[in-house]
Amino acid sequence: MANKILIVGNWKMNPLDPEAAKAIARKTRTTAADLRRTEVVACPPIVFASLIMPRDKAVHFSVGAQTVSMHESGAHTGEVSALMLKELGLTHVIVGHSEERAAGLTDEMVAKRILAVLSAGLTPILCVGEAVRDDNGSYFDHVKIQLKASLAGVTQKSANDIVVAYEPVWAIGAAAAMQPEQIREMAIFIKKVYSDLYGSAAGLKAAVLYGGSVNYTNAAEIVSLGQVDGLLVGRESVNPRGFADLLKSVDAVS
Ligand code: PGA
Repeated sequence: MANKILIVGNWKMNPLDPEAAKAIARKTRTTAADLRRTEVVACPPIVFASLIMPRDKAVHFSVGAQTVSMHESGAHTGEVSALMLKELGLTHVIVGHSEERAAGLTDEMVAKRILAVLSAGLTPILCVGEAVRDDNGSYFDHVKIQLKASLAGVTQKSANDIVVAYEPVWAIGAAAAMQPEQIREMAIFIKKVYSDLYGSAAGLKAAVLYGGSVNYTNAAEIVSLGQVDGLLVGRESVNPRGFADLLKSVDAVS
């Protein structure tokens, strides 16, 4: 059987009410239980995390956070630390999403958050991606610089405890996803940057997800032709039926 696939649902600031959150999570969890090789992480608004947390260990399903503080504890109004998330039972944390970067989150802050998440024993999902594409390929440089800066301080030992999510900003919340051939090209490039930083074994093992306008109609093709290790899904992850179909279609990719 082929490698494992990781599908992360980024609910963003949705849905509005707790009952709807429970319903989305219920459908996602029951679908996940029947998958063969696909792991699902639902990242709800943090106030819903304990509501949707499975009471017993769920099969192929866990809960993650959309953001985290770089600090461990102390006078940081409004922030939540990685250890608190761990204590709550979460497994993954999205770090450096472009919506947070647009609001002022720098690579340096992203790097500190990554280290905080790793030291709490959680898996960071590091988001990188260019804002625009031009004809001279400068998006490769952009992604390389962002990746290296966001990984500052990460040792070779922890390099493969991180999942990289490639999300071209222009494809997020858009009408269509990026073409699978372009996704494959960037996934290979990211693994190459990883191997430059941490050695070829780490490069080969690096897990790269794609995110940006993924839905149940394009997900399987992106995973198979794009040759990524999974997907970071926004809108479709809060559409219970669409997300269930997406999970099943991806899991069926041979
Ligand atoms: P989208 O969002 O799937 O709605 O484009 C993806 C993301 O922002 O992670």
